[in-house]
Amino acid sequence: MSQALYRTWRPSSWDEVAGQEHIVQTLRNAVVSNRVNQAYLFAGPRGTGKTTSARLLAKAVNCLAENPADRPCNVCENCKAVNQGRFLDLIEIDAASNTSVDDVRELRDTINFAPSQGKFKVYIIDEVHMLSTSAFNALLKTLEEPPSHVIFILATTEIHKIPATVLSRCQRHEFRRIPLNQIVEKLRLICEQEKIQIDEDALSLIARQSTGSMRDAISLVDQLASLQGRVTLAAAQDILGTATSQTVIDLVQAVQEKDSARGLELIHAALDGGADPRQFARQVVDYLRSLLVVKLSGGKDLELLPEVRSTVNKQAAAFSAAELIAGINEFSKAAAELKANWHPGLGLELAFAKSVSQSEASVAMPALVPEKNVRVTPKTHEQSKPAPEPPKERKPEVKAAEASPAAEAPAEPAPRTNGELNLENLLLDWDKIKREVRGVDQVASALLNSSRIIRVENNTITLGFKSDLLRDKMNEEKPLKVVRGVLAKFYPEEVLIVCTAGTQAVEEHPDIVPNGLVDMTLRELGGRVRKKTVNNEKKE
Ligand SMILES: Nc1ncnc2c1ncn2[C@@H]1O[C@H](COP(=O)(O)OP(=O)(O)O)[C@@H](O)[C@H]1O
Ligand SMILES: [Mg+2]
Ligand SMILES: [Zn+2]
Repeated sequence: MSQALYRTWRPSSWDEVAGQEHIVQTLRNAVVSNRVNQAYLFAGPRGTGKTTSARLLAKAVNCLAENPADRPCNVCENCKAVNQGRFLDLIEIDAASNTSVDDVRELRDTINFAPSQGKFKVYIIDEVHMLSTSAFNALLKTLEEPPSHVIFILATTEIHKIPATVLSRCQRHEFRRIPLNQIVEKLRLICEQEKIQIDEDALSLIARQSTGSMRDAISLVDQLASLQGRVTLAAAQDILGTATSQTVIDLVQAVQEKDSARGLELIHAALDGGADPRQFARQVVDYLRSLLVVKLSGGKDLELLPEVRSTVNKQAAAFSAAELIAGINEFSKAAAELKANWHPGLGLELAFAKSVSQSEASVAMPALVPEKNVRVTPKTHEQSKPAPEPPKERKPEVKAAEASPAAEAPAEPAPRTNGELNLENLLLDWDKIKREVRGVDQVASALLNSSRIIRVENNTITLGFKSDLLRDKMNEEKPLKVVRGVLAKFYPEEVLIVCTAGTQAVEEHPDIVPNGLVDMTLRELGGRVRKKTVNNEKKE
């Protein structure tokens, strides 16, 4: 079985690298002038060329070509060895793997040995942000005074997690998302060479979907090419799910009508039907963006199906630009939330709930909508399953728009316990507490549902969240206030809430190779696996 297309198409010379012109130029110059740094940090989104450039640099500094401008030449012994993955002085460490701590410690022992094949020993440490503190410390020691025959190239998608002490010792390069036209161009070339028949508009759809990641773009082509026959736009849309679906339109309608029950029902139905939450969120973003474009400029250039056009015009008129922008923001966050797949749909629910409350808030702005003082509070319902019978005609409760959330809590008293806060009591009261919170605020409720009680001591409840994003959302003023307000009814003494985030995402599909094509397509791009494709992931 041949290897994955994106590996076959890893650039073997600087000229093949798309985008990143400034970085390539700097690295080339360094090689030519023999002024290569001893420590580099390559940061940027996945699939933008960090590992590729690291290998190119490793190859170039060890290339035997006479003229430095020709390095890497890809014909000398060393270049060939690197290309074939058998160059002993190129050591790649994947910090995401369990053994990385040992690897980094071992580094210190082996680093002083001279290179065995080439001029430089090059250590590429991928996903360096995943190193444990102790591994970082070990690394730092070696970065302080590396032997002159050693070059470090650290790569990361999350530069904010790199300690300043490490940053300060590296020459830093930030890789950018690759522009759409360059992705299309590269895909076209690949398809020509690989004899993949694909429509031009399918290519541009794929390029758009991959949001600047060449790796994702090539992988999508790879997957689509494994289907029978020519890859048409329709086939690509089918797999990638980007035709504006009726569900998306209906969801936006639910935001417009502030019909929370209907909106959540749509979300749950879509997810039950197998939609990927983040892909769905992305579709909502795309659609809201169309509305915004129509709102601001009439949207003559938008490619819309005629039957969608009139709905788009109507919905664009129903929202203010500010509401659309807020909605785009919320759903973008849901689309970007990487770690919430242990609670599918939560990000979507939050985005929807926030968009509804946003459009409620702007109702308070005069002259936009007549019923400006009315705040519609939908009936409460289970968040985790589809509402069985969403109320067709809503019975809005009229409330003062600015009432403090805690004060809105329905007066459902009766804690089951004696009012002393300890873990046992909290567990007994927990369902009731959650129900009350749900009656007050949907965002707080969704967040609370997504959390785990980690500890209860000294009138402090520690809640665990599976991602930084969720933790931060809970830490916003409003959700905390709502939860504290409800807790106050159960426990007389003031309760402190501490939110923490675990870093370990729950693996949902143990049989899918992490970061493999299938995994990536599922997680990152929301693809659906239709046909069994062979996963060729293996270490090069
Ligand atoms: N800038 C680029 N130019 C051309 N191909 C690229 C580029 N970035 C990524 N690719 C493609 O994606 C694959 C993975 O790229 P890689 O360098 O490993 O990405 P990163 O390390 O940034 O996640 C490469 O094998 C190549 O096919
Ligand atoms: Mg990489
Ligand atoms: Zn060479």
